[in-house]
Amino acid sequence: ARLAILLSGRGSNMLSLVQATQTGILKDLAEVAVVFSNKPEAPGLELAAAQGCPVASLPSQGRKREAFDAEAAVLLQQYQPDFVVLAGYMRILSPAFIQPFAGRILNIHPADTHQHQGLHAYEWAFDNKLTETKITVHLVDEGLDTGPILAQESVDLRGAETLAEVERRGLAVEHQLYAQTLAELIKTKQNVMSSAAETSRSEN
Ligand code: GRF
Repeated sequence: ARLAILLSGRGSNMLSLVQATQTGILKDLAEVAVVFSNKPEAPGLELAAAQGCPVASLPSQGRKREAFDAEAAVLLQQYQPDFVVLAGYMRILSPAFIQPFAGRILNIHPADTHQHQGLHAYEWAFDNKLTETKITVHLVDEGLDTGPILAQESVDLRGAETLAEVERRGLAVEHQLYAQTLAELIKTKQNVMSSAAETSRSEN
């Protein structure tokens, strides 16, 4: 499967996904078609280029949401992604973006999306002294962190005394869960395709 990975910042999830395609759980299942950013100066873009990934960017600053999203969708379609994988992509997507990739856009949110949406999820967990938080991988719809949940994994926060420690534990789970969820999704899709092919062969 071809992945378009979208980011706006640091890119640690992108990096773990790239490594999973190179030597990990996504090897032989996925390749990175492009790493795209709405921020040309995002550190994650440089990191992706250093990994040998194709990179592309389109500055979103000062642009109207619909117009930017339509242009970004056209750009990304040139890379023919099977999945659009949001990895710290700090934008709410409009229908102009979602429609061409409907049902194929994934996001990772560092909290249970039923309990917390939007920014600062680790701060929320830390400030509320949660002893556990949940990392969520979900399909993206037009809301903010509202799409159908694909996978969740809990993070044990007992004894985490600083926000940095909460983030460190959470990110370790994020990095593993995102690649694992994608691998399962791709395998499921492959099985569906091959059993459909089987059915049509036996019908002919
Ligand atoms: C991660 O915590 C992710 O869950 C959230 O944004 C952060 C991105 O971090 N959506 P990174 O750029 O992948 O390091």
